[in-house]
Amino acid sequence: MSKEAPQRNLALDLVRVTESAALAASRWLGRGNKEAGDGAAVDAMRLSFNYVDIDGKVVIGEGEKDEAPMLYNGEDVGTKNGPKMDVAVDPVEGTRLLALGRPNAIAVISMTPRGAMYNPGPAFYMNKLVVGTEAKGVIDINAPVEDNLKNTARALGKDVDDLVVFVLEKERHQKLIAEIRKAGARVQLHTDGDVWCLRRLPESNVDIMMGPGGPPEGILAATAIKIVGGEIYAKFNPQSNDERKAILEAGYNLDTVLSINELVTSDDIFFAATGISGGSFLRGVRLTGKGAITHSLVMRGKTGTIRYIESHHAFDKLMKISSIKYD
Ligand code: FBP
Repeated sequence: MSKEAPQRNLALDLVRVTESAALAASRWLGRGNKEAGDGAAVDAMRLSFNYVDIDGKVVIGEGEKDEAPMLYNGEDVGTKNGPKMDVAVDPVEGTRLLALGRPNAIAVISMTPRGAMYNPGPAFYMNKLVVGTEAKGVIDINAPVEDNLKNTARALGKDVDDLVVFVLEKERHQKLIAEIRKAGARVQLHTDGDVWCLRRLPESNVDIMMGPGGPPEGILAATAIKIVGGEIYAKFNPQSNDERKAILEAGYNLDTVLSINELVTSDDIFFAATGISGGSFLRGVRLTGKGAITHSLVMRGKTGTIRYIESHHAFDKLMKISSIKYD
């Protein structure tokens, strides 16, 4: 055990922010309005950040300033009375899941020292390949699907047909899903929410995640995967000519393969996520009549500490964050 005095674990401050976002968003569960759920979470997150002693800058946020008035890329967050940090936020990861009352919507934040998070620029999609610690070093995002599956299976001491592959259920993934099935592996399809892959493989029943999704979710997942062990590779995967053009004009190279250490250059990572709709990863917000109970995951990269926190919130606080209008 180190004799150094323990430093402040900023992730414990962050969890209050994700809890607020989850509490606010949970009021919109299943109401069919993803914008309102997201907006409520953004407002709550923004308010709670005012009490966090950091000089933070949102580098992975809710889009550009003009389109998202809150928590936009480049926005300052925190009291400014603390370390300079990069902040990645997703007030509701899985806005559709929330709107439809489906499992696995979460509120999530991660933080690193300033300059340590990759900026994906104007990209909307990146191809991602994720494995747990046991299969580190055997995957290659440029290799055929079958090869990645064979190598992962070998590293895990399994056969390919033992593997479970996480894939987002999207029209554009039909070919990928067919290739996985042809190779013999089993597929777990999720309509949304690929930050979810941060769960410690193989504890999650998933052996490998494949396929394109949002770049912000990739950076958030990378921060968590860096703490729990495992590997993620990402590569631009534009889905339209406009997206391709914007990426190239911003000076990026479409062939660049980003490893976990390029997506997040520091180990000094703070991560917090709170369940909104509940699922196999985190329990959702439970309203009790007298208040609410939240379930969160809090992790710190430097020490590798992982905490699950169940918080019981009194009704007063809930009143403050849930004064929403139903129209
Ligand atoms: P939102 O929370 O922004 O709705 O994102 C949900 C999500 O499923 C992500 O987890 C995923 O990376 C991305 O959308 C995939 O995008 P698309 O739905 O356009 O394929």
